[in-house]
Amino acid sequence: MSTLLQVKEVTKTVRSNGEDLKILKECNFAISKSESVAIIGRSGSGKSTLLSLLAGLDTATSGEIWLAGQPLHQLNEEKRAFLRKKHVGFVFQSFMLVQSLTALENVMLPLELSLRKNAKQQALELLEKVGLSDRGHHFPNQLSGGEQQRVAVARAFASKPDILFADEPTGNLDAENGQKVEALLFELNAQAGTTLVLVTHDRNLAKRCQRQLVMHAGELSEETAIREESTQNNGRVHVA
Ligand SMILES: Nc1ncnc2c1ncn2[C@@H]1O[C@H](COP(=O)(O)OP(=O)(O)O)[C@@H](O)[C@H]1O
Ligand SMILES: [Mg+2]
Repeated sequence: MSTLLQVKEVTKTVRSNGEDLKILKECNFAISKSESVAIIGRSGSGKSTLLSLLAGLDTATSGEIWLAGQPLHQLNEEKRAFLRKKHVGFVFQSFMLVQSLTALENVMLPLELSLRKNAKQQALELLEKVGLSDRGHHFPNQLSGGEQQRVAVARAFASKPDILFADEPTGNLDAENGQKVEALLFELNAQAGTTLVLVTHDRNLAKRCQRQLVMHAGELSEETAIREESTQNNGRVHVA
């Protein structure tokens, strides 16, 4: 299998209260095309920081990140933006929809940005796929959390990314909506071969992924077997 993402000795140090704080410590791993990978770990362990580096939204302090054969660590913001547009999709815990646009317009956005023909027709089909064909003209604040996240997933589908990063995509949803969003993500993985990298607190969601990486105080390791603790609390691990 070919490597889509390669991370070598990546660190991230931030300045906090006049001190250097190393929030990522020499992370190493590789992800192949079409793999599904979960990143799990306690709150504050560095998961979101890592995800933003992998997606080229932020830069590492040291180390190398190769995405689709390109050295993200050597590219300026403009070139990283180009690489993101070409390969990357995101789904965030807080949905990140454009509030002044309707659901349909939010889904049309990446299609229009890439000058795709029939943007409206494709966006309508995607909304139907996520079960929201009757909500196209609603603005985000007129939709429930679950509906907003499904719009965000439809928008991510629209850009047909090679790799989709999702930061706690079901974290703000009830069980039913969480399952709908989860099903959509794995459908994208199965049908389009989209590589999935999910940060999650949900052990059941993590278990559906082929691999699990565990973040512990900025150090990343591969978890070989997820313990069966999840069945005792409905699959959700509660952290402070
Ligand atoms: N820009 C920053 N300045 C200072 N501290 C930060 C910054 N970004 C993240 N942190 C700290 O780094 C740690 C990891 O954060 P984060 O990646 O958001 O963790 P997680 O997503 O696992 O909850 C936390 O202790 C957080 O407070
Ligand atoms: Mg986080």
